[in-house]
Amino acid sequence: MKLDEFHLERIQSQWENIVDYNLSESGVEPLRLNELVPHNRLQREILETKLGYPQTNGSIPLRRNVSSLYEGATEDHVLVTNGGSEANMVSIWNMLHESDDRDEVVVELPNYMQIWGYSRAFGANVKSFWLTEGDGAWLPDIEGLKDMVSKKTNLIALCNPNNPTGATMKEEHLKAIAEIAEDCGAWILSDEIYRGAELVEQRTPTMWDYYDRVLVTSGLSKAYGLPGLRIGWIACKDEDKVRDLWSYSDYTSIAPSMLGDRLGQMALEPAMREFIEKRTKRILKENWAAMEKWLGENEDIMTCIPPEAAPVCLVKYSESIKSTELAESLIQEKSVLVAPGDHFLLPQTIRIGYGHDKKKLVKGLSLTADFLRGEE
Ligand SMILES: Cc1ncc(COP(=O)(O)O)c(C=O)c1O
Repeated sequence: MKLDEFHLERIQSQWENIVDYNLSESGVEPLRLNELVPHNRLQREILETKLGYPQTNGSIPLRRNVSSLYEGATEDHVLVTNGGSEANMVSIWNMLHESDDRDEVVVELPNYMQIWGYSRAFGANVKSFWLTEGDGAWLPDIEGLKDMVSKKTNLIALCNPNNPTGATMKEEHLKAIAEIAEDCGAWILSDEIYRGAELVEQRTPTMWDYYDRVLVTSGLSKAYGLPGLRIGWIACKDEDKVRDLWSYSDYTSIAPSMLGDRLGQMALEPAMREFIEKRTKRILKENWAAMEKWLGENEDIMTCIPPEAAPVCLVKYSESIKSTELAESLIQEKSVLVAPGDHFLLPQTIRIGYGHDKKKLVKGLSLTADFLRGEE
């Protein structure tokens, strides 16, 4: 198995704790433990927790809470994993391993490149279809997807809401993609880790509602601001498939952590879930206002299609510098980290994460504009 370098994660891992202004982070400001566990009784309960292995596919209460996000699902339709990244890995590994004659994965681009990289590492023939710019929005190229699939297509992989653009697919797009998958006999892998982090009123539709052979991957790291819990999941309507996926996670991490499981369960209790979702939307709205102001002040040198969800957006700049070089120079000269568009196969762009501390965001943006204008 030969791995391509995961360029985005490499640059983040290397620099995110060193720079003064980290605008590469793709989540929202994380919750503190005492926001998640505000009452004495619950705090005592957490302190009394025995730090053994939890149920390896996730405790029943946690899986039940996760299943409440998907119409008609029960705990038997959910496998809990260590973060959304393990959910994606187990899904790709399982799907490609279980099929001899379907070796194609068609990935929506641009994308967080994990599914792309894993699929290539597991020997898949990786193809793509793009979100394209039209009418001030990023729209899936449905005709392009039709041209890409074949009887060898194993999976169509979506990221909805999308990282890095913050675009969301609408009901009609999901229906069209489901029809294409049905016609060629493919499964759909829908990474929906940003669902619930909408700037717009409507919740992003889930592929769960439109296709039976879907693996929905998600977790608490993004919309719920709890990446440190490392709780992710796969939701699937086929209980046998869920058991099969579980047997693959025996080989990866065995189980989530006991505290992650217990705290994840609390995060998804109805009242806490509502509190967290409101908090996320408030942060997104407040911080997007700062982003929008900055984009307006610099419209002579950059453009951006506003995100509909997720604390990330893709900024196209007019300066003729490669985005990887731009990112390197920004680190060295201004101590600002952004994610270069080259890592999403979109040159002349940078991804900016706007979900963290607003003061730092404003300062980091100002330094980025200074750099692009060649100012000290
Ligand atoms: C679309 C997407 N899926 C999955 C992940 C990984 O999530 P986790 O931190 O829960 O492993 C990320 C992280 O940035 C992501 O952007």
